Amino acid sequence: MDKILIEGGEKLRGEVSVSGAKNAALPIIASSLLTEGSCVFHNVPDLVDVKTIKKLLVSLGAAVEAKGNTLQVQAGIQQCEASYDLVKTMRASILVLGPLVARMGRARVSLPGGCAIGARPVNLHLKALQAMGAEIDLRDGYVEATTKGLKGTTIFFDTSTVTGTENIMMAAVLARGTTVLENAAKEPEVENLATALNGMGAKIRGAGTDVITIEGVTSLDSVEASIIADRVEAGTFMIAAAITGGDVVVKGCEPKHLEALTAKLREAGASIEINGSSVRVSGGNSVHSVDITTLPYPGFPTDLQAQMMALMTVAIGTSVIRETVFENRFMHVNEMMRMGADIVIDGNRAIVSGVNRLRGAPVMATDLRASASLVLAGLVAEGTTELSRVYHIDRGYERIEEKLSRLGANIRRVRE
Ligand code: UD1
Repeated sequence: MDKILIEGGEKLRGEVSVSGAKNAALPIIASSLLTEGSCVFHNVPDLVDVKTIKKLLVSLGAAVEAKGNTLQVQAGIQQCEASYDLVKTMRASILVLGPLVARMGRARVSLPGGCAIGARPVNLHLKALQAMGAEIDLRDGYVEATTKGLKGTTIFFDTSTVTGTENIMMAAVLARGTTVLENAAKEPEVENLATALNGMGAKIRGAGTDVITIEGVTSLDSVEASIIADRVEAGTFMIAAAITGGDVVVKGCEPKHLEALTAKLREAGASIEINGSSVRVSGGNSVHSVDITTLPYPGFPTDLQAQMMALMTVAIGTSVIRETVFENRFMHVNEMMRMGADIVIDGNRAIVSGVNRLRGAPVMATDLRASASLVLAGLVAEGTTELSRVYHIDRGYERIEEKLSRLGANIRRVRE
């Protein structure tokens, strides 16, 4: 298994380019199941999660060909089952459910089960499909959905759910009549998916707001679409610049998608200049504590909570970080404390008192964003940080150690 070794203390400098967004690539690749036509997707990141969804599509019968960051999919579907082996490694595999039911009238998809950051059920996906006329059975750890034809209806999501909104939007594009999704997720990745679907001939309005209207069509066609820049990767590099007191230009991102983070980094004392699709972050000599509450978009993203906590561990003063999107998303806290951080957990709040310095230590990645936060802590810690279980980070960051090392970080991957 690979490890990442980091010698802390280098100030990051230079330019770094952002890859395509994992959370947009996964639903957009899954959407190719809705059409027999050829789908060409550009700016697809080279990540383990993307490899998993490709494998899943191939197992369903699709022809998938990758050339650099371009992916071509032609989805002839031979069977409608997503097995436990593939789903257990990636919860987002549930994204094939909506498209399969819509196009084939049936699907059998393994339930994702719990995961490191909380229970994360898919009840809202299933309730919405039922409301559209699918019969749902839960058997042997699988969701079995069948329908003689989905029908449009109005669906109110009790909680804002990103993959839930995406799954039902994909189901609704081939349903009879009009579907209205209320309290829909407003994340930019939902909008990116809607643009790709509309490119296939779907009729979706309102994506990016909390009411999405989908007029069903009878079939969809070929499409060529691009994946948006990964705002979580961009945000991680912005925090890397701030935590090291460096000066980094993050290129090829969408600053509009990073407003919540930008505001917090400025409040913490970093200087941020926006120029088109580039964001320059210069860290000062010190970081001030700021309070954070995670929220659905456009609020502060839960996917940057752990990284921001890393920054707060070395801030002047005390910050309160409230996690409201997921329960149990503080798995990084114990590892940070092993590096000398002063953090107290109180329910869904972490009270972080800044310390003068972190010390390098052997630490373990527990989930994707937690591992990124430990890399950030390692960049500023005294001595060597040895991060194990780095397969978590490879699920969502394209060659993170190469990109950081080009910015001057003393970081390398070793194979045991
Ligand atoms: C997506 C992102 C993930 C991000 C999260 C929140 C992808 C592939 N993943 O995950 O990186 O952290 O959004 O921005 O895009 N919930 C239910 N029932 C459901 C569905 C969700 O109770 O049927 C709850 C969840 O437990 C959670 C909250 O709703 O507390 C939000 O989850 P959701 O938006 O669905 O997260 P994901 O789509 O899984």
